[in-house]
Amino acid sequence: MRQVSIRLKLTASYVAILFASLSLFGIAAFVAMRNGIEKSVDENLEGQAGGVAEVMGRVLQEEPARLHDELREHQELREQADFLQVCDQNGRWIYRSRLMTHYDVPAPVKASYPAYNIMSADLPLRVLVREMSAAGQTYRIQVAAPMDDFYDAMDRFKWLVLLLSPLVLVLASGGGYWLSRRALAPVDQITRAAQEINSNSLAQRLDVPRSGDELQRLSETLNSMLARLESSFNRITQFTADASHELRTPLALMRTTTEVSLRTAQTVSDHREAQEEVLFELEKTSSLVEKLMLLARADAGVESLQRFPVNVADCLREACKDGQILAETKQLSFQQNINSPTLVVEGDSHALHRLFLILIDNAVKYTPSGGSIVVGLTGSDDAAVVEFRDTGIGISAVDLPNIFDRFYRADKARSREFGGVGLGLSIARWVAEAHRGSIEVESTPGAGSVFRVRLPLFQG
Ligand SMILES: Nc1ncnc2c1ncn2[C@@H]1O[C@H](COP(=O)(O)OP(=O)(O)OP(=O)(O)O)[C@@H](O)[C@H]1O
Ligand SMILES: [Mg+2]
Repeated sequence: MRQVSIRLKLTASYVAILFASLSLFGIAAFVAMRNGIEKSVDENLEGQAGGVAEVMGRVLQEEPARLHDELREHQELREQADFLQVCDQNGRWIYRSRLMTHYDVPAPVKASYPAYNIMSADLPLRVLVREMSAAGQTYRIQVAAPMDDFYDAMDRFKWLVLLLSPLVLVLASGGGYWLSRRALAPVDQITRAAQEINSNSLAQRLDVPRSGDELQRLSETLNSMLARLESSFNRITQFTADASHELRTPLALMRTTTEVSLRTAQTVSDHREAQEEVLFELEKTSSLVEKLMLLARADAGVESLQRFPVNVADCLREACKDGQILAETKQLSFQQNINSPTLVVEGDSHALHRLFLILIDNAVKYTPSGGSIVVGLTGSDDAAVVEFRDTGIGISAVDLPNIFDRFYRADKARSREFGGVGLGLSIARWVAEAHRGSIEVESTPGAGSVFRVRLPLFQG
């Protein structure tokens, strides 16, 4: 429907512009033609009147009595344009040619250049009056030219334009419609192809016409939009699948434990043991669900941070208190280098605490007993840099680019053994970025890792 209306709109605008141009051209050509003709007629008349004035000047000097005859002789040489009359200042005729008498052109009252038009007995005449003085007398010389032929030609031109214009308009609108149809045909194609793409065929792409025009750009833009949609759609699908998978394992475990305990447990301590196992799984599951919800809210853009000026050192010390306890349980040495001057960032202290704890937790989890962890805080001009250094198992170069992906674990079996699901670093990165900061990692397998969080300082 819409394309038809675009086509019609294009054609209508085209026809309207053409109509205006044709009208303008017709009027301008008509006016220019008339002015041109009248100008050249006027020049001609001026020449004639000049000739007559010259004859009169000469005759009035030599023998004034022959004025009438001389004028007639002069005029007889001009067979066709026998339009001349001369009168004196009192309106008395000195000479009147045959045609002037025939068409009864009124006597001239004053000189006039350019000439003027009159209608005399159905004959359009262009009349020019010139004054001359000789021997104390003023004479008015009046010459004229019949304009019927010129006006007939102009009439013919007018009718030609009037009759041809509708024909040109009809042809042009047909052509315009055809052209716009051709130009918009690829849009039809794009529309049809786009209609066929749905959530099951997001991998499909539109054909890109190599025309180098707007339509190529449109197809390319739609294709890149499809690529973005496909990748976020796949991410969401993957996320949902991974999440369900991670939830299924502890649920199955709890169910089996409960069933077995119901069937076989005999003593209170047997039941207690089973319940403790279930509780342990429940805690893990709640923590997983809580992480999932946080990421889902972050994706939806509804997880809002309470932003206040936060002293990074205070927040880090708090996290290190928990870290210390974790490290002790694994016989790790835990050292804090938080001596830098006050570094304030604008952020959410709970989120930052969580970010620091995720990194300490990883350092503890992935460092074997006897190793050491060092947490440091330094400041640069515009950012606070928090560093988490461990002497743990390290991360291989293959895993390094992926560890911030959701559910990614370098060594699945080992990580799960530590209770990890692979969401910690995704959350850490989200928190860092929500504070306009960044997080980076360096690691040597077998030697240890360093995670560095950079947070821009509060410029208040
Ligand atoms: N300090 C570290 N040393 C060695 N490997 C690490 C370290 N920190 C992270 N990793 C690797 O990166 C993976 C992803 O870490 P992440 O914190 O996202 O998940 P997790 O610790 O397995 O689970 P979660 O934190 O969600 O409980 C880990 O599984 C681990 O393989
Ligand atoms: Mg972790």
